[in-house]
Amino acid sequence: MVSRRTFLKAGGAALGAAALGGALARAQTATSPAAASHVHGFNDVVGPLRVDDFDPYAFLTQFNRGDTVTNLGAGRARREWRIVAYNRDLEIAPNVSFPAWTFNGQVPGPTLRAREGDMVSIAFQNASPHPHTMHFHGIHAAEMDGVPGIGPGEIKPGGKFTYEFEAKPHGVHLYHCHALPLKRHVHKGLYGAYVVDPPDGWGEPAREMVMAMNAFDTDGDGENEVYAVNTKAFAYARKPIQVKRGELQRVFLVNVTEFDPLNSFHLHANFFRYREIGHTSNAWRFTDNVHLIQAERGLLEFTFDMPGRYMFQAHQSEFTELGWMGFFEVS
Ligand code: CU
Ligand code: CU
Repeated sequence: MVSRRTFLKAGGAALGAAALGGALARAQTATSPAAASHVHGFNDVVGPLRVDDFDPYAFLTQFNRGDTVTNLGAGRARREWRIVAYNRDLEIAPNVSFPAWTFNGQVPGPTLRAREGDMVSIAFQNASPHPHTMHFHGIHAAEMDGVPGIGPGEIKPGGKFTYEFEAKPHGVHLYHCHALPLKRHVHKGLYGAYVVDPPDGWGEPAREMVMAMNAFDTDGDGENEVYAVNTKAFAYARKPIQVKRGELQRVFLVNVTEFDPLNSFHLHANFFRYREIGHTSNAWRFTDNVHLIQAERGLLEFTFDMPGRYMFQAHQSEFTELGWMGFFEVS
């Protein structure tokens, strides 16, 4: 078995399925619209990127505000979601299939979005062979915290539980499974972003995106072979995120990387303002690079004043070369 570090030392400029553990690789025939816009001159994977199983381009701006929404008056709403946990193979790089554990068949799970003061209700169903929970960050009753041994505890295969609480405080949060062994349940893909809007909104209108920095251990050695934002290696490098010059960009950034203690976000040829947890009482920082431990998250805002193609990446070079790199294309 070639370890990722040996592989990089050998000067590999492209990830190959063989180097990533051939046992998990499988043939695929789906084509990707991304392939047509392939950019040369950066580290990349070989072959078309499949997006029919999970589409990182659509996911980027998909915010789920409730399957059912009831107006409670006084600006408050009750938001209900149905979330089902089940196992599903997802392609994380061309010809590299990952046996994921998913919320609603996707990794990350759906981005759930409420407003501070809303009532949220998540009807969780476990349709997988392992016990799971849904643990939300935020302020709520202990029984709703989704950890083993408290309240409903682990939801067994075939089981159901409805988590209900008020959405607070506002900020950029996340949810994830908290069943044991924790690192396995997180690493397998049971996580998602949970955004709680401030009562008066975030401020200036902006183009909003969610980015979950994640990674995958494809050979079971306890370290990651593939890194990404939103699961698919190099997705936003192959097909850059289109932005308009002068338009405010707002990124809800979440670190859900297992095994590595830190991940980071670096923006090229520009700076951004950054607010920890996204809470408006936290001060803005002005920087071009932030590093986050697991479950740390924040709000980034920036504007491009000049057209062109701007890289964004983890500023851990190894992560960049293993898939965590993309571009904003400013026109
Ligand atoms: Cu789990
Ligand atoms: Cu957590």
